[in-house]
Amino acid sequence: MSYPYQIRSFDEYQVAYRVSVNEPEQFWASVANNFYWRKKWDKVLEWNFKEPNVKWFQGAQLNITENCIDRHLKELGDKPAIIWEPNNPEDRTRIVTYNRLHKRVCQVAQMLKNNGVKKGDRVCIYMGMVPELAYAVLGCARIGAVHSVIFGGFSAQSIADRLEDAQAEYIITCDGAFRGGKDIPLKSVIDDALVGNKKIKRVIVYTRTRTPVSMIKGRDVWWEEEMEHAETQVEKDGAVSFPAEVMDAEDPLFILYTSGSTGKPKGVVHTVAGYMIWTTYTFVNTFQYKPGDIYFCTADIGWITGHSYIVYGPLCAGATSMMFEGIPTWPDAGRFWDIVDKYKVNILYTAPTAIRSLMGFGLEPVKGKDLSSLKVLGTVGEPINEEAWHWYDENIGKKKCPIVDTWWQTETSGIMISNLAGITPAIPSWASLPLPGVQPVLVDENGNHLPEPKEGEIVSGNLCMKAPWPGIIRTTYGDHERCRKNYFATYENLYFTGDGALKDAKGNYRITGRVDDVLNVSGHRIGTAEVENAINMHAGVVESAVVGYPHDIKGQGIYAYIIFNGKHGDDELTRKDILQTVSRIIGPIAKPDKIQFVPGLPKTRSGKIMRRILRKIAEGETSNLGDITTLLDPAVVDQIKNNRV
Ligand code: WTA
Repeated sequence: MSYPYQIRSFDEYQVAYRVSVNEPEQFWASVANNFYWRKKWDKVLEWNFKEPNVKWFQGAQLNITENCIDRHLKELGDKPAIIWEPNNPEDRTRIVTYNRLHKRVCQVAQMLKNNGVKKGDRVCIYMGMVPELAYAVLGCARIGAVHSVIFGGFSAQSIADRLEDAQAEYIITCDGAFRGGKDIPLKSVIDDALVGNKKIKRVIVYTRTRTPVSMIKGRDVWWEEEMEHAETQVEKDGAVSFPAEVMDAEDPLFILYTSGSTGKPKGVVHTVAGYMIWTTYTFVNTFQYKPGDIYFCTADIGWITGHSYIVYGPLCAGATSMMFEGIPTWPDAGRFWDIVDKYKVNILYTAPTAIRSLMGFGLEPVKGKDLSSLKVLGTVGEPINEEAWHWYDENIGKKKCPIVDTWWQTETSGIMISNLAGITPAIPSWASLPLPGVQPVLVDENGNHLPEPKEGEIVSGNLCMKAPWPGIIRTTYGDHERCRKNYFATYENLYFTGDGALKDAKGNYRITGRVDDVLNVSGHRIGTAEVENAINMHAGVVESAVVGYPHDIKGQGIYAYIIFNGKHGDDELTRKDILQTVSRIIGPIAKPDKIQFVPGLPKTRSGKIMRRILRKIAEGETSNLGDITTLLDPAVVDQIKNNRV
C-alpha cells in the first residue's frame, strides 16, 4: 500500500497519522520510496529505548547529496537552489542554481579529498552565513565526512572543547564574518582555539571580510586556491563529477553540539537516511511547500534549524532556499520585509524573538513593503506569545497566511509538533498536533502517564515520546551512556524532551518551556550549569547560581547571583569583568543580563541550591516564595530579595 507523500487535507493528515502509528514500517517505507537509493533497505525499523538502539532502513545505501542535488539536475538544473542575500543590501546577491551547487559541492568534495579528508573523519565548520558554508556542509556529506558546524558566536574555548570532543582533524572557516555593523574575526578565534592543539591537520580559510589573518605554514590553506585546483579535477569534457561516497543508512551524517542541564555541551549525532527522510517529509508537509515556492528561513546554519530547514530539507525537496547573511535590524528593522519584497518570498520561517524585537520598531519598517507573495509563515525555537503571534498574523501575513508554530529540538532533527499550513488548524501559541510518526505522551514527575483530557479539560505534564521517528537522536558522540542518561533514563521506555506541555481534549499540545535547567535565550539553548562554570572561572568569584527570568524580547534572560570576594572596587567594573569572562569561556550569547552580588545562596542543609527561590526572586515574585524553613540560613533570602537588580 502506498500513502500520499504530501498531505493535502485534514482527512489525509488523520489517515497518515493513524497509519504511521499502526504500521510504522509500511508507512515509512512508502515515504522512503520518494528518495534515491543506491540500494534499498532490508529492514525498515529496529529499536529499543533501553540502550537506546534505533536503526532505520538497515541495509540501505545512499548519499544524501545525491538526493539534495544530483537527482534534481535534469529538471531543476537551471533553477535556483540557494539565493544568497548579503549582509549589506548594496552588495551583490548570489543566485546558485542546482547545476552550480552540484559543481561547487563536487569541488569541495575534491578539495577535502586533496587535503586528506576521508569518510568518517570529523570536519569542524566555523563560518559566517555565506553560500560556501552550505557547500562545505554538503561537500563533507558527499565524501562521507562527518561535519560539525559551530555557530559563529561561540568563543575559542567553546570551539576547543568541541574539537577535542569530536576528535576533529580538519577545520573550514572564514577570515571573518559580517553581521550587521560588525566584522567578526573568525579565523583569529580559530587560531586561539588551536593554541596547543596537535590534532588539527588542516585549516581551510575562505575569504569573506579581508580581515588580516595569520596563515600557519603546513596547516592553513586558502579555500580559493584549493578550489581552483579542485575545479580542474572535477571538470572533464564539460561535465562535472565527483562520485558520491556510498553510505550506509545508519552512518553518521553530522554532529551538532547542544546544551543540556549538566556538564559541557553534548554532540548530538544524526545519521544519513532517517535524517534525510525526516527533514524532507516535515519540510514539505508542515509548510505545504509547492514546487517553485521561494522559501526563506532566517536561522543560522550553526543551529539545527539551519541544518534541517535551510540546507538538507529544502534542497532534498528541490526547493529554492534563501540564505541571509545579516541580521533583522541592520541597516534597519525593515530588512526582512525588504527581502520578502525583493525576492517575492512565499514561505517565511523565523523565530519569536526576531518577531518581538521587530515589533518593538512599530509598523514604520513594514510600510510600503509588498508582502503579498507570502503564503505561509512559521516560527520555531521557543514558545510564541499571543501578542507576537497576532502581530505576525496581522502585519506580516495580513491575516491570509497560516502560521505554523513548529516545536522540535536538535535531538529530534526535524519538526515534531506543529499545525500543517492551511490543513490543520492554527491556534495562537499552541504548537498543536503531532506530525505523522510522532507519538507524544505526557507524564507526571514519577513517569506516570497522565489521563487523556476530557472535553473542555487541559492536562499538564512532562513531554515524552514513546516511539522512534526517523530523525531521532542516535547517540551523543563518543559517549553513548550520556545519551541514554540524558534522554532515555528519566522515564522508562520513553524519550524525554526536557519540555513541559499542556494537552487539550482535541489532542493539541501547547509547549510551556523547559522543565530542566536549560535556558532558552533568544531561541538559543544554554545550560545554567555551563554559565555558572564560566562565571566561576573568574578569580574573584566564590560561587554562583544562574536562573532564567522572563525577558520581553529574548523570551528568557539570564540572571546570575554571585558570591564575590575578589578585590571589590566598583561593582560595575566587576560586572563587566565577569561578562568578559563568560564571553571568553562560552561566547557573547551566554552573557548574563543581570548580575546580583549576594552574601550567600539559599541552600538546603544538604548543600543544594534552592533554585526555585532564586527563580521566583528573579521573576520579581518576592512575597510568595514557598517553604523556606528547610534552608540552612533563611535570612539570606531577605538579603537577596532586598537587593534585587
Ligand atoms: C524550545 C530548536 C515552544 C523547546 C529547533 C525545545 C519551542 C528547545 C518551540 C529546542 C516551539 C523549540 N514552541 N518551544 N515552537 N521550538 N522550542 O535544540 O524548549 O535549539 O526543547 O532546537 O527549544 O531547542 P533547539
